[in-house]
Parts: sequence; structure tokens; C-alpha cells
Amino acid sequence: MTSRALAALGASVALAAVASACSSAPADRLEATTPTDLASAMRAYVDDPNVGRHALERSLVNRDNTYSTLRLAEYDEEHWGQLPELDAPAAPVLVSETGGPANPPPAGDPAWATLGAGAVGWSLDELRALGERAFFRYPLQPSDTMPGALESADHAGVWQHDGRFGAVWVSLPRGVVSAAFTCATCHASTIGDRLVAGRNNADLDAARIYANDGATAVPLPTGASLAPAWGRGLVDVTPDRIDNPVAITDLRPIRYQQNLHHAATLHNEPVALAVRIETLIITSHSEAVRPPRKIAAALAVYLLGLAPTTPLPAGEGAAVFARECGSCHEGEAASGPPVLLSAVGTDPAVGTSPDRGTGMYRVPSLRSVGDRRRMFASGAVEDLDALLDPDRKAAGHRFGLELDAHDRAALLEYLRGL
Ligand code: HEC
Ligand code: HEC
Repeated sequence: MTSRALAALGASVALAAVASACSSAPADRLEATTPTDLASAMRAYVDDPNVGRHALERSLVNRDNTYSTLRLAEYDEEHWGQLPELDAPAAPVLVSETGGPANPPPAGDPAWATLGAGAVGWSLDELRALGERAFFRYPLQPSDTMPGALESADHAGVWQHDGRFGAVWVSLPRGVVSAAFTCATCHASTIGDRLVAGRNNADLDAARIYANDGATAVPLPTGASLAPAWGRGLVDVTPDRIDNPVAITDLRPIRYQQNLHHAATLHNEPVALAVRIETLIITSHSEAVRPPRKIAAALAVYLLGLAPTTPLPAGEGAAVFARECGSCHEGEAASGPPVLLSAVGTDPAVGTSPDRGTGMYRVPSLRSVGDRRRMFASGAVEDLDALLDPDRKAAGHRFGLELDAHDRAALLEYLRGL
């Protein structure tokens, strides 16, 4: 490791400690993640397995849940570090003339491509470009049932854009070709003609994709419950045998989140985010392969660049927000330290999960919340109008429900500008 990388890493370690000790940390932490620091921290993570291991240990909020226990036992050079790296050729699933999925391209067709991370340089721009390609192409999870779901009338809510579906074909060893989820299947969605990267796909019927014709692949985490319907935009990600699906997360504001996961499972900092992505790919492939670490690093860099950087809106709504919401959704990040489940009162199911629970919910960043759909961990609220509807049925988070019509309109306008 270079001395510059070490210095950057030292800085990020110190800052992670500050971040967990101090409630006004997000601004400090964002300033410290200057481009040069981020690139060298990522290089250190790729070059030295101990860097990721230490970031993992620092990031776990509750070391006793099964999410933490599994990673503490397996995330090192003796265990998951021994797995073969997967960068298999993949190709987008194209939309056929009849509107369903076209067949996979024949062997040798130039549509098949690996990411070839090794040949990519180390600047932030190069890492970001690799991360963008990985986001839309890297096979996160093979799924034999995906083609059948894409044949159905609504394509199970998988998006279509530019003649392709939000899924890929992957060419696995021994000549097996399978369909697969990519990050973008769940974490991108269309608004009219636009495909918005990072914005959660609130229409995705993931339970139907997994259940379709008997689930011959292995897509569910062992022990996750497959209820007849999770609801659109929801996935049960926890291997805890409890029916507790959660809303797919809007990843655009990830650089502003103090914690990762609705249940605040992890403190957020760039290397911990890369490790979180690396271990997601490992567990999604039933712990049989791992991604080249450079791909996980590139995905983290790409995601950190999706956040809006425009200044917070001013005006009347800003004052209403500061008064009613600012104690939790603080500052530039409109986020803050996690709160006890009882303090927010929303559906506590995943917050108490033995898999990733901490007894708290994170205070989600409200940056780019204007066009977000599926609010709260449980997805119980559809959008901002539903959130602030005084007659809302969904439990908890009663903030802002007593506002008069004038203040409510000002607050909504403010939120739409975040
Ligand atoms: C099948 C749908 C699905 C796919 C595919 C998927 N995710 Fe997710 N992702 C989710 C759900 C659901 C959550 C919420 C989990 C929670 O909060 O406990 C989530 C959470 C996350 C988070 C935490 C975000 C936060 O702010 O807490 C990150 C980071 C993330 N995903 C990255 C990725 C990346 C990178 C990929 C591709 C390698 C990917 N995801 C693929 C469904 C998916
Ligand atoms: C006591 C702390 C607290 C206050 C005050 C508060 N919030 Fe929240 N907010 C939270 C927590 C915690 C969640 C996550 C709840 C969950 O996941 O079930 C949340 C979730 C949200 C969400 C959903 C975002 C998403 O992606 O799911 C929105 C929107 C929101 N709050 C807006 C507001 C507004 C507007 C106000 C003021 C009228 C406000 N909040 C006041 C703690 C607070």
C-alpha cells in the first residue's frame, strides 16, 4: 500500500469514529470524502484485505445479529477470500417484437461482455464508469424464473428502456446460460421516457419473479420467507423466517445516509459501503463466488456520485421543515442518527429482525425524496402526499399531520425540491 493510501485511510478511520460519536457528523464526513481520499481509500480496500475487514468491524451497529455474525465469521482471507472471482460474460435481455424477452444472443455475439475490471484505471472517473456498467450489467443473482416473469403481461414490473429489460443473461461455467437480476433491476426505474438510476423500482413484483414456476434457481436467502405476495417494490431480504419484506431503497441519496439499511444495521462510510456490496454479491450467489473487489469499489464510487448536490431550497417551506422535521432530518443531508422504533412508531417488523435488527430505524435522507415512491421500511406509505395526508391509515411517524393547508402545501413544495 502506498503511504498516501495509508494516510487517507487513517483519515477515514478517524472520521468514522467521529461520525459514530457525534450527531452532527454527516457534513464533516462528506467534506472529508474528497475525491482524492475516496480514490485512494478504494484502492487500499482492493489491494489489502485487512482494510475491508477493519471497515466491516467498525461499521456493525449490533455485532450479535445474524447479519453481523455471518460476516464476522466469513469475511476474511481464509473463508470468503478463497472463493473464485466471478466476472462472467453478460448481455442485456432485449425486448422482442412480441414484447416479451428475446432469446439470449448466440455464443460469440459481441453483446456478451465481461466488465474486465483489471484493465480499468484508478481515477474516480474511471471507477465511476466501471461502477455504472456494473450497476446495469453485473449478474447479482441468477434467476431461472426471470424469463417466465418477463413473458407475463406486466413483466412483473421489471422496467424497459431503450429496447432492453432491467435484467441480463449471464453465461456461467459449463455452458449454462441463465437470466439474472442486476442492481438496476431493483434500484432503477422509469419516469416517462427517462430511466432514473438509483431510484427504487416501486412497481417490481419481486415475489412473483422468485415464485414463478416453482423457483428452480436459488435466489432467496436460505430461510427468507416467500409470502404469496410481498407487495410491489418490496423484498424480504432477511433469512430470519419472519414475514418482514422491506421497501427497496432509493440509492440516490446514499452518500447522505448516516446508516445503511432501514434497520440501521451499519454505519455508512465508503469502504464499509463497498464491503456491504461485496458481501451482498457473495450471499446472493449462495456463497459460491465473490466479485473482483474492484467491481464492488467501483459500484460504491458510482453510487456515492448519484446524490443531488444542489443547495437546499429556501422559502416558507424551509421554515416549516426546520420546525416540524429538522430535529431528526438534520442539515444538508436531511438525515440523522437512528431513532428507537418506539420513537417513530412505524411498522417495527424489520427493526426487530434477528437478522439485521438494531432496535432502531435509521432516519432516511430526504434528498431526492420528491419523486420517491414506497415510504418507510415497510413501504406502507406510497408517496409524499400520502405521508402528509391527515387521514392516513399507516401507523406511526405522525409528524406534520396537524399542519394547516397553507403550511402543508409549503412543506410539500420544499420536499419536492430536495
Ligand atoms: C431483488 C432486489 C434487489 C437487488 C437486485 C439489489 N438490491 Fe440493493 N436493496 C434491496 C432492498 C430490498 C434493500 C433494503 C434492505 C434493508 O434496508 O434492509 C436494498 C438495500 C441496498 C443498499 C443499502 C442502501 C441504504 O441506503 O440503506 C445498498 C447499498 C444496495 N442495496 C446496493 C445494491 C447493489 C450495489 C446491488 C447490485 C450489486 C443491489 N443492491 C441489488 C433490493 C435489491
Ligand atoms: C423523531 C424523528 C423524526 C421526525 C421529527 C420526522 N421524521 Fe421522518 N422519519 C423518521 C424515521 C425514523 C423514518 C423511517 C421510518 C421507517 O422506516 O419506518 C422517517 C421517514 C420519513 C420519510 C420516508 C422516507 C423513505 O425513504 O422511506 C419521509 C418522507 C419523512 N420521514 C419526512 C418527514 C417529514 C416531512 C417530517 C416533518 C413533518 C419528518 N419526517 C419528521 C424520523 C423522523
